[in-house]
Amino acid sequence: MAKLDEKIGFIGGGNMAFAIGSGLINRGIIKCGQVLVSGPNIENLQRWRDLGVLTTDDNNKVVDKMDIIFICVKPHILKPCATELKKNHCGTNKDKDKLFVSVLAGVNVKDLEDNFCFIDHLKMIRCMPNTPMQVSEGCSVYSAGSYVVQQDLEKVHLMLNSLGVAQQVPENMIDAVTGLSGCGPAFVYTIIEALADGAVKNGVPRQMASQFAVQVVMGAAKTIMVTGKHPATLRDEVCSPGGATIVGVHELEKGNLRATVMNAVEMSSQRCADLGRKGK
Ligand SMILES: NC(=O)c1ccc[n+]([C@@H]2O[C@H](COP(=O)([O-])OP(=O)(O)OC[C@H]3O[C@@H](n4cnc5c(N)ncnc54)[C@H](OP(=O)(O)O)[C@@H]3O)[C@@H](O)[C@H]2O)c1
Repeated sequence: MAKLDEKIGFIGGGNMAFAIGSGLINRGIIKCGQVLVSGPNIENLQRWRDLGVLTTDDNNKVVDKMDIIFICVKPHILKPCATELKKNHCGTNKDKDKLFVSVLAGVNVKDLEDNFCFIDHLKMIRCMPNTPMQVSEGCSVYSAGSYVVQQDLEKVHLMLNSLGVAQQVPENMIDAVTGLSGCGPAFVYTIIEALADGAVKNGVPRQMASQFAVQVVMGAAKTIMVTGKHPATLRDEVCSPGGATIVGVHELEKGNLRATVMNAVEMSSQRCADLGRKGK
């Protein structure tokens, strides 16, 4: 696996930043000494220090010292955060070489560029990652802003792709994908919990039910990946006539599972676009 020599910064060291940063370190793409993370409450960055990463409460240090800077604050924090950065930023000729990567849900490249216009020749990439990146099973999409060059895209692709699958897409697809990849892990966690609860209701001990529910979801996903078969084909293969599985599948249909999941993806995508427009 290729390595990166660049210094990697994170403005905001919460869950998404940690998934990316710890994932990159664990995969050996970067070393912890290459990373600097900032946040307003230094005590909330302890898990980074436990990894051996330096932390600061000064966002400007991250912009000044780092080469690739992930912006990982909540969407409504973007404006105050950028305003504060602008106030304290001393532009240098290194600014045009820096690469910014935003993970903010719903905030488009144009708004990101407007907020960071104090950086000369701003290179901004909008990315939508997800938290399974911390275990190298993430999904991310990304789109480039004005001054981004091929080499920048390759670096971002290397980082994101080392933590799962990554794809460059037209920007107007990012919000639509977010309902699936950004929010989807939470939907699947809920389904896993429900599978386990069903087994507990039937008398299976909790720990075993939870372990098996995870394995069932992982096994089903891997079967689709390895065989390349359509999910409906695989489902038909396990539904014997008059058998137990088709009875369960019927219950899922009665509960409108498919329409419910489709609605969840659609509503999350819409909410993502709203977050970008309205902030909160
Ligand atoms: N979580 C996901 O699954 C996911 C998926 C895709 C995209 N995203 C995007 O990732 C971004 C972060 O989400 P998250 O889930 O990681 O949230 P989070 O865990 O709450 O992290 C946000 C971080 O920003 C810090 N922060 C607050 N104000 C700041 C400031 N002025 N300057 C620097 N840092 C500041 C917070 O520090 P304190 O805690 O000390 O206040 C916190 O560590 C969001 O824009 C979200 O849309 C998240």
